[in-house]
This record gives sequence, C-alpha cells and structure tokens, in this order.
Amino acid sequence: MSELFKMTDYPVLPGRLRLLQSQLREMRFDGRILLQNGDRGYATAPSNIALIKYWGKEPGREQIPVNSSVSLTLGAFRSFTEVIVRGRFFPEHERTTAPEGRHEISFVDGQAAIPADTKVDRLLHAMFGDWAEEIGLTILSRNNFPTACGMASSASGMAALVGAIADLLQLEKHFTHADLSYWLAEWSRFGSGSATRSALRGPGCSFVAWEREENEEGLWTRTSALESEAGLARKIHHCVLVVDDSPKDIPSSRGHQLAASSPLQAIRVAGLARKMDNIKKAIFDGDFATIIDLAEDDAFSLHAVMLSGKERINYIKPATEVLIAEFVKRRNELGEMALWTLDAGPNIHIVYLSESAQFVENFVDWARQHQKGKLRILGGRYAPGLALGLENFTQIQRRELIVDGLHE
Ligand code: DP6
Repeated sequence: MSELFKMTDYPVLPGRLRLLQSQLREMRFDGRILLQNGDRGYATAPSNIALIKYWGKEPGREQIPVNSSVSLTLGAFRSFTEVIVRGRFFPEHERTTAPEGRHEISFVDGQAAIPADTKVDRLLHAMFGDWAEEIGLTILSRNNFPTACGMASSASGMAALVGAIADLLQLEKHFTHADLSYWLAEWSRFGSGSATRSALRGPGCSFVAWEREENEEGLWTRTSALESEAGLARKIHHCVLVVDDSPKDIPSSRGHQLAASSPLQAIRVAGLARKMDNIKKAIFDGDFATIIDLAEDDAFSLHAVMLSGKERINYIKPATEVLIAEFVKRRNELGEMALWTLDAGPNIHIVYLSESAQFVENFVDWARQHQKGKLRILGGRYAPGLALGLENFTQIQRRELIVDGLHE
C-alpha cells in the first residue's frame, strides 16, 4: 500500500504535525475521510499587518523566521477561497479510476489571492504527499481588496487555502479545536510565513504573535493570539494610503534571502527579543504610545536592512516619505494615538485608536489634496479571523467591508 501522506520528500515536520498527519492517513485508510469528485471546501481568511516584522529566514530551514513577529489582524481585508475535488478518490484498495491530474488555480476577478502557483503546488504536496498527485484540486480564490495595494495577499491567500482544505477534509469533526488550530497555523506557515498570523479563528485574534520556540525537538515556531486586558482590539482602526499600486519589482521571498547580506540585519535581530517582550506587554496593558514607538522603529529598521543588502531594495517612493514625515510631525505636535508602518511596499498603513479618528481623517484629507487626487485610501471595519465552511464564507462575503475612504 502506498504511503498517501508521504513526508520523506519534504523537510522535517514538527512532531505534533507529523502525528496529526498520520492520524489523517489512518482516517483516509479506514474511510472516515473520503473525497469524491465535486466535493468542496470553503474558507475566508483575513490579511494582517506586522507591527514587528518578519524579515529573514533561518538558513537550511523551511519557513523558520530569524526573528519573532507580531501583527494586527485586518479582518476587513480578506481572501475567499473555495476548493473543489476533480477526479474520483477512494481508499487505496477500492480505487477504480485513474488519477485525474494536477491542480488548477483560478483567481476570480483577476485578483490573485495566492501569488505563485509553484508555492501552492509545493504546499499541497507537503500536506498530502502522493495523495496530491491523485486528486487534483480546483482552487477558486478572490480578494476583497486590490492585490497590488501593499497588503500581504499571500498571508490571507495561503491561510484561506489551508482553511478551505481543512473544510474539505471536515477536520472540524475529526480534530480537537486545539489540534485543528495548530494544523491550520502550521500549514499556513509552510505556505507563507506571514500567513500563519492570518490562520487563527474566532474572536480574540486581533493581535497575533508568531514566535520562535526552542523545545526538545529543536527550533520551531508558535502562533498565538495576544490578549489585551485593556480591550485594545475594540478601539483600534486601520487604513492604507495607497500611493502606488503597481506590482513590486522584488518579491518579499527574495528580500528574505537578501536580509542576511545587510550588516544591519544582525543588529536589528539582536534587539528584537526585547522589543517582542515590550510590545506584548504594551498590547496587554493597552499602552498604545509604546506600540507606536516600537512599530515605527521596526518599520525603519526593516527598510534600513532592505536598503543596505547586497542588492539594494528600495520600496519607499518619494510620496511615501513626504506623507510619513507630515504624519509624524502632526501626530507628535498633537500627541495623537496613531502610527504608520510599511511592509515590503510603498503604501502606508495607519493604525490608530478611536480617540484619534478625527486626526486621521484630517490627515487623510490633507494627504489627498497633497497627492492631487492620486491617493487611494482603503479602510474597513473589524471582521473575524479565519472562518471555515460555506455558511461563514457566504455570511462574511455578503458584508462588503472595504471602502474607499474612512468608514468606521
Ligand atoms: C515585509 O510572508 O510574504 O510583510 O514566508 O516567503 O511567503 P514568505 O514571506 P512573506 O513575508 C512578509 C514580509 C513582511 C513582514 C511581515 O509581514 O512580517
């Protein structure tokens, strides 16, 4: 009997994930998991914006970051993914039809929620072993936000894909809540590092930490929701100032490779353990002033590393600089509770508390005028984390949350 979840051709998995994969294999053999032509799975996942950034991977390891990171879940900016089984699929001894071939991916509305086909293929192979060869999946995926607007579309895209497969396999029935959460976070991480921070379910996942963890098995990571005793999630808002929506020249995967070539990277990473402790405490205490300092400092460090590597990566456009400088000047003068941050792109994310909503609105008005109408603003209200199943999918899809402007 062939090994359906073959793991030998993929980097070592952490023990707990290996265990869950072999449970899946057993369920597959004894017929508890049975896939047939036309079976479907659905999930929708949020994007996220890192406040402490993930940049650089451990050499020789698969998706182990050189530093821990923390993000804010962007529940309104989502990917919606449906997977459909093509070809018939039975337990090994009952298989009656030949495998029907490869997976195909469709991006609905031309908005790619998952950037690279090979990345997806690789993920599916790692998840399913040679089962992936046999079943063939059609993946339909769309984002409710423009892909080239500086949002991490691979984060929501990969998490939604992993979620849709979990729904297809009906893992909510087969795994405990904790095991399923772990399975979703780990496979999303394999798909794209930042996706693991988009893979948590339920309320209370507004702030997510993705942390390096040394245990008896060696170095792995843990993804967890961060509590805020001060109820920060209820007061927090976010928008993006899209100064340039052309696709970026250098993908972040290349940036991760180049990070170690910057002399500044070691300095940045050395300081991050303390910053992680401080930001987690600040989130817990609702100390937004400290979050502002830490997040802006880290955004600067990230771009300093990008600019000083073997190949210079400059994502910052002149308009980005002008807008950030003015934002900081006004914010500091007025002592407002608002911060800026940038990912691997020129577009400015603003995170702010309700009490500074008027300040952000005024700033956005000024920025629009300054950019002579070329600036696009995307904002949205809070919506949940990763959600599995058709019912959640349609319910959340019905709420068109992304707006051109600030609506809270
Ligand atoms: C700058 O998660 O896109 O957005 O793991 O190679 O898929 P891969 O990289 P990716 O990197 C994101 C980098 C970042 C910072 C962050 O989100 O933490």
